[in-house]
Amino acid sequence: MAILNYGSLNVDHTYHVPHLVRPGETISATTFDVAPGGKGANQSAAAALASASVTHIGQVAEGGRFLIDELSARGVDTSGIRLGDVPTGRAIIQVDDAAENSIVLFSGANRAFAPGDVDSALDSAFERLPGEESAGGHVLLLQNEVAHVGHAIATGHERGLSVCLNPAPMTPAVADYPLELVDTLVVNEVEGAALVGGEANEEIFENLVAAYPHAAVILTVGADGVYAAQGAEVVRVEAERVEVVDTTGAGDTFIGYYLARRQVGDGFEGALRIANHAAALAVGRQGAMPSIPALAEVLA
Ligand code: RIB
Repeated sequence: MAILNYGSLNVDHTYHVPHLVRPGETISATTFDVAPGGKGANQSAAAALASASVTHIGQVAEGGRFLIDELSARGVDTSGIRLGDVPTGRAIIQVDDAAENSIVLFSGANRAFAPGDVDSALDSAFERLPGEESAGGHVLLLQNEVAHVGHAIATGHERGLSVCLNPAPMTPAVADYPLELVDTLVVNEVEGAALVGGEANEEIFENLVAAYPHAAVILTVGADGVYAAQGAEVVRVEAERVEVVDTTGAGDTFIGYYLARRQVGDGFEGALRIANHAAALAVGRQGAMPSIPALAEVLA
């Protein structure tokens, strides 16, 4: 079984600041880093580090070639990443002394695919999977930083792939996606509330389960842990008490690890618990992709 991930690749510019800059204010950063990121690339990296078979589909410009190398180094099949002329995606990230962050995205090449490109990229990635005749068991993973996500959901479903959607960052367009075709929905409390309403986490979770009864629903809430349901199986995982340095990419680490552990045969709850632990390790480190732990460390 394999994961095909049509997702973003970003160059992350991270500034450590005493507090998130306010309107009209100019402040000095204490440190500055450039590192690989993008929700899609982070999720591919996490799944591959967790030993899943992952093919990433996306686009960068020449200056973003190092993102391909970073994914390859973590075991991702990068044959689905195109090089083009549209500038590579970028994220300007502030992380403050309380580990809060704010992110400005420049989509660039992440939005360069036309609907037909999505279909053909998926088809050729699928054809490259060794010895596979049916899509059964394979996962199409999607976030919301690339173009034509709704179309990709429909294509993946039509091809028989199990569709996992993380609608982050949330936009009004998500309401028009064919969410009834999604097999696994992973949201945080902001995304969940935007989709189905609710204030307390329990209420958001109940609303999600009621709205998407055919999907595995996973609500991740940082310090409040994870609420999840798959059919009649309802799981609650408490957050681990750790020192938080930088939460950027923690949700991506969770998703990559969760899908990878399902691939190797872990049950719903077991996969959620390992993913939760991987994310807890990630928040103790700086950066997005660089903070994702290796499998041996997570299992130890
Ligand atoms: O989820 C974290 C990611 O969001 C960062 O790596 C950044 O690129 C933005 O896409």
